[in-house]
Amino acid sequence: MAENIAKSKPAWLEEAVFYEIYPQSYYDTNGDGIGDLPGIISKLDYIQSLGITGLWINPCFVSPFQDAGYDVADYYQVAPRYGTNDDLKRLFSEALQRGIRVLLDLVPGHTSIDHPWFKESCRPERNKYSDYYIWTDSVWKWEIPGYKVVSGFSQRNACYITNFFYSQPALNYGFACPDPNQPWQQPVDAAGPQQVRGELKNIMRYWLEMGASGFRVDMAGSLVKADPGLRETSKLWREIREWLDVEFPGACIISEWGNPSQAISAGFHMDFTLPFGMPGYTALLRKHYDAGPGSDPYGFSFFEAVGHGNILEFLDNYLYHYSLTQGKGLIAIPTGNHDINPRLSMGRSVNEIELIFLFLLSMPGVPFIYYGDEIGMRSFGNLPSKEGGYNRTGARTPMQWSNEMNAGFSTAENNKLYLPIDPDPHKPNVEQQENDPHSLLHRVQKLMAIRKAHPALQASARFEVLFAEAGRYPFVYKRSVDDEEILIALNPASSAVQAEIEVRAGNLPRTIYGPDGIFTLHNNHLKISMPGISGGIYQLKEA
Ligand code: NOJ
Ligand code: CA
Repeated sequence: MAENIAKSKPAWLEEAVFYEIYPQSYYDTNGDGIGDLPGIISKLDYIQSLGITGLWINPCFVSPFQDAGYDVADYYQVAPRYGTNDDLKRLFSEALQRGIRVLLDLVPGHTSIDHPWFKESCRPERNKYSDYYIWTDSVWKWEIPGYKVVSGFSQRNACYITNFFYSQPALNYGFACPDPNQPWQQPVDAAGPQQVRGELKNIMRYWLEMGASGFRVDMAGSLVKADPGLRETSKLWREIREWLDVEFPGACIISEWGNPSQAISAGFHMDFTLPFGMPGYTALLRKHYDAGPGSDPYGFSFFEAVGHGNILEFLDNYLYHYSLTQGKGLIAIPTGNHDINPRLSMGRSVNEIELIFLFLLSMPGVPFIYYGDEIGMRSFGNLPSKEGGYNRTGARTPMQWSNEMNAGFSTAENNKLYLPIDPDPHKPNVEQQENDPHSLLHRVQKLMAIRKAHPALQASARFEVLFAEAGRYPFVYKRSVDDEEILIALNPASSAVQAEIEVRAGNLPRTIYGPDGIFTLHNNHLKISMPGISGGIYQLKEA
């Protein structure tokens, strides 16, 4: 199985760099204060100029928006506030003309309480949808250990299990180990769970046939309940992957799982490193960010000028997953996403942010850039919650395009905007950064072009750590493919550092990006002396 999966990887992933768009905050074309699909289409030239080859659009389907669209009420219809299905179709084709593929956000684990399936399922009389959701057998048994249940919602004498908020009832994919004392727990091969599986394929087929290139899959590990080792959930996804490989071999699925070795053996092409699940993301990029129980504790991240981070807190775990997934699937490291507040830029200078892009764009796997991070947009800690955002809301504010009204996001009156615009008069915007050759935007563009020009920097080229020590800086690694070898050195700390590494090189490395003159050669050893807050990309061996 693993062999087949490795062979069927869509070739376009090799060079891919993705951009995540939260559609309500990207660009508003009809002045209602909410971003829309025609808005994304009209910004495709900008997205292309950045070097992006893939988009992930957060859910854009009919929804009451109690969780920003992660509560879908119709999987087959674009939400009117974003446009029409035809607009989405046009987005697929206009993007593809620019070499950009579009991934939709698939929410397989739950629907909205407004979904017609759920409304039918709520009815006390048995019907086609009775077993589409997970219902207990009595409205009065509302303490089910290990599950969140809602009681008294409908006339059906049962509680439903939710996957996230109360408004997101879990679809029924069955239980891997149903409790014999709880007969409402159905096995995965029961009729209801099998029908739901069929619905999932229908939804995927519908959008893939229309021109989508795949899906980012929400809470992909959440489907089958009571599933030790997520074995049945993994089986389900492998079945989907086998079907995709036959019917849509160019399509890609990327999971929100947070455990790449597990997700990739479950059939996903890629999995994200996230603040939850896979430890290390926070220790790498986010300072003073608490993602809740099980997440990294507060502390210093590696990319902080104070230089108190520890690269191994990220690297040990990364290498564990990397070695298990190499040749089989990819790990995606995002600059951030719509769930992570603060944004990358918070508390960091442009030079410091640049180093993070240098790192992300030279690592194996596929980088994801959260909209606005390429210009260093700020986030907010205390915005009132919008559409179930709560503390995430501050990282979802409108994209800043220019100095014009509403930062060029919308012509709507200020109080009609989806979320307020950053009030800082010096906030970054695209227009101003396009005109400034030293801007973060220009640096990101340059790094993107370098990744594109060098196969050794791309998704599945080899990765070898050359210098990484607990609590020390710099971090130095090598990427290579065929005969090309590239060395990346990073010192996010504000003080100068030195390191000695062993490489078989007759010459001094040639600078591709970053400061010159940081190397000296002693026999087979390269000595690196790096100024504070510096980093670069160097050619060890030409292809
Ligand atoms: C993960 C999504 O990224 C998040 O925004 C959403 O609230 C939950 N899944 C529930 O669907
Ligand atoms: Ca609009």
